[in-house]
Amino acid sequence: MAGKHRRKNRKRYQIFTTLFALTIGIITLHSCQNDRENNEEQGSEPTSGESNAIVETLEEESHSSGSEEEVSSLTEEERLKSKIVETPDVQLADWELILVNRENQLAENPAFTPYYTENGIIIDERIAEAYESMIADGRALGLEFILVSGYRSIERQQSNYNSVYQTYINQGLSEEEAIKKTEEYIALPNASEHSTGLAVDITEPDLYYQEESGLVEEFEDTAEGKWLRENAANYGFILRYPRGKEAITFIEYESWHFRYVGIENALYMDEHDLTLEEYIELLQKNEEIQHQINNLTE
Ligand code: DAL
Ligand code: ZN
Repeated sequence: MAGKHRRKNRKRYQIFTTLFALTIGIITLHSCQNDRENNEEQGSEPTSGESNAIVETLEEESHSSGSEEEVSSLTEEERLKSKIVETPDVQLADWELILVNRENQLAENPAFTPYYTENGIIIDERIAEAYESMIADGRALGLEFILVSGYRSIERQQSNYNSVYQTYINQGLSEEEAIKKTEEYIALPNASEHSTGLAVDITEPDLYYQEESGLVEEFEDTAEGKWLRENAANYGFILRYPRGKEAITFIEYESWHFRYVGIENALYMDEHDLTLEEYIELLQKNEEIQHQINNLTE
C-alpha cells in the first residue's frame, strides 16, 4: 500500500517538474522575443560581432565611393574655415601694417615720400590727408593740437636713446638701471616706428610749454587727448602703446603716440581692444589656416 502511494507521488512530482520546466521555457522564449523587438524598435547598439561588420562595411564604402571622400575633405575644410576669425580683408604685407618693435627691427631707414606739416615736421605723404583731416576736425571743435614729433631716422633715434640713457647715468643709476628706465619710453634705435614716418606724437599747448614738450601721461585728461583717443580710429590712427598692454608692446603707456594703420584696421583694433602686435598675430593665424585650406583643395 505504501509502495503504491510512493509511485503515485513520484508520478505527480514528475508531472509538476515537467510543467514547471515548460513554463520557464515559455517565459524565457517570450522575454527573448520582447528584447529583440525592443532592440529593433529603439535601434539599440548591435553586438560587438555585428558592430565590426558594420565598421568594415562603412570603411569599404568610404574607400570605394569618391563622393564619401569629398564629404570627408569638405568636413575638414569646414572645420578649418570655422577657425578663421573674421577681420578686415587686408594683407599682412600692406604698407600701413608694418610692425616695428624690439622683435621686429628695421635693417635700414625705410624709404617714403616726405610730407611737411605746418610746423615743419616730416610724416609719410601717404598719411598726410588722414592726419590733416583729423587735426582740422578737432580744431573745428575748438581743440588745439601741437605735433611734437613725426619721422625720426634710425640715427636720430640712436642719439635720443643715448641722451636719455646719459641723463639717467648722470642721476646716479647703474648701467643696467639706466637701460631699463630708458627703454620704458624710448624704443631701441632700430625699433622705433617713428622711423617709418607713420607715427606722430601729439599734445596740446598748455602741457607743451610746461614739461617734457607735453609728452606726458596727463595728456589723456585734456580735451584734446580725450578727443583723439575717441576719434583717431575714424582717421586710421591707433593709440599705439595703451595702458595694460605693456608686456605686449614692450613700451610703457604713451597717451600721445598715435600710429597710422588705415581706417578699417584701426576701427577693428579699437573695437576688439587689440594692439598692433595682437592684430598682426591674428592675421598671421588666419593666413596659416587659409594656407592649410588651400593645401587641402590642391
Ligand atoms: N617712444 C616710442 C616708443 C619710440 O621711441 O619710438
Ligand atoms: Zn612717439
